[in-house]
This record gives sequence, structure tokens and C-alpha cells, in this order.
Amino acid sequence: MSSFFLFSLVIFLYPIQTLSVTPPVQISEAIGWSTTGRRLETESCRTGNPIDDCWRCDPGWETNRKILADCAVGFGRNAVGGRDGEIYVIKSADDDPVNPIPGSLRYAVIREEPLWIIFDRDMIIKLKQELVMNSHKTIDGRGFNIQISNGPCIAIYNVSNIIIHNIYIHDCQPAGNALVRDTPNHYEVRGRSDGDGISIYGSKDIWIDHCTFSNCYDGLIDVVYGSTAITISNNYMFDHNEVMLMGHSDDFFPDKNMQITIAFNFFGDSLVQRIPRCRHGYFHIVNNIYSGWEMYAIGGSANPTINSQGNVFIASNNKSTKEVTKHELSSGDDGDDWKKWNWRSEGDLMLNDAFFTTSGQETPAAYIKASSMVARPAASLLTTTPPSAGALTCQKNQLC
Ligand SMILES: *[C@@H]1O[C@H](CO)[C@@H](O)[C@H](O)[C@H]1NC(C)=O
Ligand SMILES: *[C@@H]1O[C@H](CO)[C@@H](O)[C@H](O)[C@H]1NC(C)=O
Repeated sequence: MSSFFLFSLVIFLYPIQTLSVTPPVQISEAIGWSTTGRRLETESCRTGNPIDDCWRCDPGWETNRKILADCAVGFGRNAVGGRDGEIYVIKSADDDPVNPIPGSLRYAVIREEPLWIIFDRDMIIKLKQELVMNSHKTIDGRGFNIQISNGPCIAIYNVSNIIIHNIYIHDCQPAGNALVRDTPNHYEVRGRSDGDGISIYGSKDIWIDHCTFSNCYDGLIDVVYGSTAITISNNYMFDHNEVMLMGHSDDFFPDKNMQITIAFNFFGDSLVQRIPRCRHGYFHIVNNIYSGWEMYAIGGSANPTINSQGNVFIASNNKSTKEVTKHELSSGDDGDDWKKWNWRSEGDLMLNDAFFTTSGQETPAAYIKASSMVARPAASLLTTTPPSAGALTCQKNQLC
């Protein structure tokens, strides 16, 4: 390892250390470091992150909000959200699951028409039931500190074209066995919800970008039941056990078509496992930073294809958790099946004795359906501007 690189690493690790010694009182403090080093000139604001470079160099982001819809990369790149609809401003943090009042988040997300949903101030939204979204919606928290927390959180069921951007999602709880409205003309009794941060079920063209997630009852983001065409990017996740589940069960075969990109995320302190845990489909895990994991980072069963490129894996000091990967056994598996699953690691940076157990074929052809963008060199994640994953603090007429 070159001394130049070590130097960069020290700079990079500093904020992580700050995080671990000072547990955040307010979640926004936890990413205080991410927006330091604000860039003043548009010329020098490009970072090499293709999503951010698409919109963050524009001090007029507030008036040009919808440009974001054309900035996605990866399998979820066609998610246009509410781009082709009106802007809708949320003015109330109230929640009525059956008769939501105009100006509340639930009122907006169940509409039939496309909407680009923004907020008029900082808001802590404690939902009474899951927020069941209709298609063609963007929830855009830029400009304010928007938290969905301490109640049920977001449910994306049987819909398409959703963008969730710049929201804090934390301490999500189960609820359900209650009436919930899902469109202006329909409500029904919904069963018990899992307590996920975002639950994606039977849906496609979804993009989740620049959100901060922590400490939910079940998963931070779970993707199941034939969902596909999804990008999960630039998020900051910390303090959680089962982080992301992708694929319903070993014998649910429609998940064979699942294609998911996980890019430019920062996986921080106190994450235990499932970052993500995959079944059946195709997973492009690219240019993320993993800062420790208490059991494993990337795992799976039932023959998922995992294309890991340009990530930084920093193992913790615990000698028994150096392995990034976990090939899980499923019923009927004689213990050797995993050797056929295509899992590769290409250009990943392995630090503090982290190691990745590859399997299956080494040929590029095996990974075509798990390739969705060009990976940058892993070391560039550490040497360019400070990492800026998670919800951002954006002010009008300034670079965000
Ligand atoms: C989604 O659609 C499937 C198939 O039409 C249906 O069985 C299921 O109840 C729907 N799920 C939800 C949660 O709306
Ligand atoms: C190290 O990791 C293992 C496996 O997760 C765990 O059982 C053990 O308690 C950890 N040790 C320490 C000192 O944290």
C-alpha cells in the first residue's frame, strides 16, 4: 500500500471515528461531516460520481429540481418518478391513514397523477400506518430536514416509477391490521407490516438516492416479490442488523429476473449483516464504501449473480468477521451448490484483511446481466472530495 494511499485513508477515516465516539443526538448531526468542504466554483465541483455531477453543480437546484429525474444510473435509471407532473408542496406532518388531509404526505403519494413532492419546512413525520405509494411519485426532501421515523415507514407495492431522495428514514416500526388508503378511491384492511424503512414489493423502476437510514425494526430496504429495475445509491446507513434483503425466498422463482444496482453508498458503523442478502437475481454492487460489518457484508442463497466492482471493504478489527461474503445454505443444498454461483470481486479494495470468497465462472459473459454502469477505481472513492452519502443539507441558490 503506498504511503499516498495511507495518507488518504487517514483523512477518510477521521469522520468515521468522529461518528463512533459521538453517538448522534439528532440524526442530522451524524452526517455533519458530509457537507463540509462545500465547493464554491462550479468548475471544481465535479467529483466523478455521475449522479451528483449531473445536478449538484447547479446552484439553482431548487428551481431546477426535476433535472434530478434524469440523473439516475444503473438498473433503476429509467425511474422518472413524478417528473412529468406538478410540484406538490407538503405543509403538514399530520397523518390520517384513511382520510388524509390535503397538504399531508399521504394525501400526495396516493394520487393517481404524477407528482413531484417537496416540503415547505423541516418536518418529522410519524406515520400511523405504512405510507402506501402510488406510481409516478418523487419524494424530494432537498432544502429541509425531513424525517420519517418512529412509526411505520414507506411501502412501494405493485407500482412503478418512484424516486425517494434526501429523506432521513429511521426507527421504523411495524403496524397494520388496519384500514389504509392506497388510492383516492380505495382503501382496505392491510395486514401487519414488517417495520422496514422502505419495503419494495412487486415493483419496478425505483431509485432511492441520498437518504440516511438507521435502526429499523426489520430491514432498512427490502426488495421482494418480483421487483426489478432498482438503483439504491448515495445512501448512508448505520446502526442496524439486517440491512437489505433482496429476494423473497429460495423457492420464489419470479425473483430470477431481479436486477438491482447498489452504488456510491456509505455503509457505516454498527451494521451487522445483509448489506445486501441476495436471492436468484442479478446484483451490481459498485463503488460503495463498507466500513466494518459485524457478521458479513454481501451474502445470499439460491444462485444469485453478484458483480462486486470498485468497492472499498474495510474490515473491523474482529478477527472472525474479515470475510465480506457469506454463501448461505438453503434446504436441499448438499453444501457445495454455492461453488456454482457467479460471485466476482473486480477492482475492490480490501483493507484491514478483508477478503471476498469468489465462486462460479470468471468469464465476463457470466456478468452481463449484472452489469449496469462503469465502475470507478475504488481508491478514487477515498482520494476525491469528502464522501457525501446520505441526506444532504441544501440551501437555495447555493451548491448542494
Ligand atoms: C400485488 O399484486 C398481487 C398480484 O396481483 C396481489 O396478489 C397482491 O395482493 C398485491 N400486493 C399488495 C401488497 O398490494
Ligand atoms: C466478533 O465477531 C463474532 C461473529 O460475529 C462475534 O460472535 C463476537 O462476539 C465478536 N467479538 C467481539 C470482541 O466483538
